[in-house]
Amino acid sequence: MKCILALLLLISGVAYAQQQRFLTSLIQRMTLDEKIGQLNLLTSDMDVTGPFMKENYKQDILSGACGAIFNAYTPQYTRMLQDMAMKTRLKVPLLFGYDVIHGHKTIFPIPLGEACTWDLPLMEKTARIAAEEASADGLHWTYSPMVDIARDPRWGRVAEGVGEDTWLGEQIASVKVRGYQGNDLSATNTILACVKHFALYGAIEAGRDYNTVDMSRRQMYQFYLPPYKAAVKAGAATAMTAFNEVDGIPATGNHWLLTELLRKEWGFKGFVVTDYTSINEMIPHGIVKNEYEAAELALKAGVDMDMQGSVYATQLKKLVAEKKIPVKLIDDAVYRVLEAKYKLGLFQDPYRYCDTLRAARVIMQPEHLHVARETAQKSIVLLKNEGPVLPLKQSAKVALIGPLGDAQRDMIGNWSAAGDYKKSVTLLQGLKAAGVAVTYAQGAQVTSDAQLMGKLGLQTGDEDAMLKEALDAARGADVVVMALGESQGMSGEAASRSDIGIPASQKRLLEAVMQTGKPVVLTLFNGRPLTLEWENAHVPAILVTWFGGTQAGHAITDVLLGKFNPSGKLTMTFPRNVGQIPIYYNRKNTGRPMDANNKYTSKYLDVANDPLFPFGYGLSYTTFEYGPLQLSANTLAMNGALRATVTVTNTGGYDGYETVQLYLRDVTASVNRPLQELRGFKKIFLKKGEKQEVRFDITAADLRFYDRNMRYVAEPGEFRLQAGPNSRDVQEVKFELKP
Ligand code: NOJ
Repeated sequence: MKCILALLLLISGVAYAQQQRFLTSLIQRMTLDEKIGQLNLLTSDMDVTGPFMKENYKQDILSGACGAIFNAYTPQYTRMLQDMAMKTRLKVPLLFGYDVIHGHKTIFPIPLGEACTWDLPLMEKTARIAAEEASADGLHWTYSPMVDIARDPRWGRVAEGVGEDTWLGEQIASVKVRGYQGNDLSATNTILACVKHFALYGAIEAGRDYNTVDMSRRQMYQFYLPPYKAAVKAGAATAMTAFNEVDGIPATGNHWLLTELLRKEWGFKGFVVTDYTSINEMIPHGIVKNEYEAAELALKAGVDMDMQGSVYATQLKKLVAEKKIPVKLIDDAVYRVLEAKYKLGLFQDPYRYCDTLRAARVIMQPEHLHVARETAQKSIVLLKNEGPVLPLKQSAKVALIGPLGDAQRDMIGNWSAAGDYKKSVTLLQGLKAAGVAVTYAQGAQVTSDAQLMGKLGLQTGDEDAMLKEALDAARGADVVVMALGESQGMSGEAASRSDIGIPASQKRLLEAVMQTGKPVVLTLFNGRPLTLEWENAHVPAILVTWFGGTQAGHAITDVLLGKFNPSGKLTMTFPRNVGQIPIYYNRKNTGRPMDANNKYTSKYLDVANDPLFPFGYGLSYTTFEYGPLQLSANTLAMNGALRATVTVTNTGGYDGYETVQLYLRDVTASVNRPLQELRGFKKIFLKKGEKQEVRFDITAADLRFYDRNMRYVAEPGEFRLQAGPNSRDVQEVKFELKP
């Protein structure tokens, strides 16, 4: 065994030395212009994901002034562009990147929905499939995972992330990196991951996209940075800077962030790319006067590659000539970029990802669609089921009503990149395919707000006629399934909302349908938590389906008919109203905890403190009973372990999944700590009548936090452990950590 290990080390040492020799010698042969070219990333015109594009990007490839392209895919197209790079003097291959966020062609649920599956192996699998398809389609690099912790659902980009919890965010960050990169980047079915947006983008003020962030170091270290760090630890090959500032300095020009923290403290070895034109944006940020200063600040801070801003391309040479920056800094950045290309095997064969036969074989193969359906099923969260109205009888006459009932484009959600919406399954199609007797009526427009309609490219329609058709359909049915919520363009980048309710046009429709007296199931399509007080008070059954991806319609049908028992649990709090935001489960107690009978305590006059649906919440068609939470001891030594057990029984009429959640509270500490923090979960499957003892092992390592002196330690004292089906309905036991 030892011999094999020594041999492997030797081989990897030799390979590393070979790589180093190759890259160093290549860089020695490069002119300054050629080096700068390697740091220039430009969008192709196949897809444009930012405010502007550069028309003559092909010229730049041919002249060696551009080393990487994004928004270009397919074996044919990338081959055509790669051919251009092969005409340059040193034939350095291009690197192709793209936002493969929740699948490439087979689209999975939006990441926020996927996180609600609490199924880490499945999340790794979807990243693996995304990488299989993207790499077969000419891509080398995805701009994912996005692991920005967010507590403000007004921000449209919560759709792209995993929600509000740091610990869960860490787990998901690692499995995603593993899924994309595998353990061998030189395999043709793996791609570079890019952890983003570094850092703190999820904490923008008021949920308004691209806005200011202001945060204490403690808050960063404790709650916002760990998921990025987990991605780095998992080996993420690249990182993308955030648009926002971090402690007064834009992330893209922040030496502390990119060099001190990312490289030195965390040991990040990959390359750093900016977000779209974010070097240029340091001018309006008010941190530099012009692009010349911006380029200097970014390079010195630790940015290797300039996405779309052409600032490095136009300024670096001058900065070197005027001795503002040493060539060595450029060489280091070029080295890191070339190293990524080397690891992918592009110097051996620049066309190794341009295989049309592989693309045809791999993309959207039945197994991928199968996983997409499973993921979508597991992402669906049942919020309410009075009656119970659900599951529906196969023989029921269903009226499907609402603008999202047959909306193919919306099913794949935002950031669905190369996804072909024409291949996605709508709810109407899903119900029909399952043999359900269904009548469909649109009923209303997604919104009748003229301004928003313009932004979403919607046409006006005859709302009265639509409403009448819908009411006729409802009256003729046994049950009504309402398909309401947001259209895909209402969340994602540059899609912040100040009102996160169901738009008025749809609400009017829902109210009218409710008056028919028919049982109603509200099926929501949404890229963020919504405010649903009225709906919760009046509608008997509510399902959150997010944007479920290519197979959305089948998956929702499976849940409606009880072929799949819903098991999703929210990873982001649903507030009662917008005034409660920011709202999140791992809050602190304050010096005046809420007391309904005492005016001078922390609360509102007009709304409760607690959310409508808490973090971790989600129902099932069956019921689970939790036995008492027990501890193996009530003290824990610094080097010891403690076992918490709870027996969960499926007491209802269906087999199903349950996600048993474990929370921790540090009662008194040198800095104030949240009332609860997720520290573990177990997703189990129980047949009806079945029970299982669920175990969690706790050591002092699980109790660590950043103390008064910013050391990551566990402090002796009283702790509480809480277990339950969500963050609200928990039982609690105490123990003491001994010095
Ligand atoms: C801007 C977005 O913020 C980022 O997430 C994305 O990767 C880039 N555009 C490239 O499309």
